[in-house]
Amino acid sequence: MQSESLLDVSGLTKVYGNKGSLFVPRKEILAVNKVSFSINRGETFGLIGESGSGKTTIGRMVMRLIDATAGDIQYKGKSILSMKKGEMDKLRNEMQIIFQDSGSAFNPRKTIGEQILHPLNKFYPGNEAQIQYKKVIEMLDVVGLRSDFYHRYPHELSGGQRQRAGIARALIVKPKFLVLDEPVSALDVSVKAQIMNLLIELQKEFQLTYLFIAHNLDLVAYFCDRVAVLSKGKMIETAPTIDLFRKPQHEVTQKLLSSILTLDGDLGDYYRKQSVI
Ligand SMILES: Nc1ncnc2c1ncn2[C@@H]1O[C@H](COP(=O)(O)OP(=O)(O)O)[C@@H](O)[C@H]1O
Ligand SMILES: [Mg+2]
Repeated sequence: MQSESLLDVSGLTKVYGNKGSLFVPRKEILAVNKVSFSINRGETFGLIGESGSGKTTIGRMVMRLIDATAGDIQYKGKSILSMKKGEMDKLRNEMQIIFQDSGSAFNPRKTIGEQILHPLNKFYPGNEAQIQYKKVIEMLDVVGLRSDFYHRYPHELSGGQRQRAGIARALIVKPKFLVLDEPVSALDVSVKAQIMNLLIELQKEFQLTYLFIAHNLDLVAYFCDRVAVLSKGKMIETAPTIDLFRKPQHEVTQKLLSSILTLDGDLGDYYRKQSVI
């Protein structure tokens, strides 16, 4: 039987530092301090904390975009930190990351379609061009973009559309696990809700597991099954979302919670309809 958990992080630590020189003093920043958590298959696990608390650093270590200083990360029970490059490359299509503005990572001189096609050709080479093209069009449809977006350039898209295109590029290689690093923070309130709903639909459709990173609790409320609260690199509280809302244990969590109660405008109404607040 396969284990329930898809990702197990234990004692994960990251120290950033320069080596120092005659003119620059040696400086070290303990960005992530012995963080441990597990994410079950199909679950959405929230990671919240104020700016600079180490969330992005954790997301990037999990994706192996940066090295960990200490600790372990297991994906499907296998340590990814000790994986060789070839083995890790094979995993790359299973694990994808969506940034605050993933769309901004598109090359301005190539069309959206060409760039969504690129990872498809890399991970699934050998298909006929026509089949690959069809797959890109299908994926554009999945994220709510018409087929003519294939031929558009990044600057011809709105922020929300670019984020949709970024999601399409991540999903084209059929990942199982997605790190969502503040995926809607840069978007307008109404677009935020649309993209969040899209992510929820996609999770159901493709049985995705999410690590959802946010700097406050508003989105976490209806999106995450469990939440971990991070403060200054340390994990100070983990709980099922509902418990965290009802009985925050830590002062930092209470502070984060108070921001959601003062939410107003469209998004506030949206959460109230969802009976979250
Ligand atoms: N490449 C880097 N070099 C040195 N320090 C960094 C680097 N990236 C992040 N940091 C520091 O590590 C801490 C955590 O940053 P980060 O993971 O980006 O936090 P968050 O995503 O929660 O805002 C911060 O103090 C930040 O200044
Ligand atoms: Mg960040």
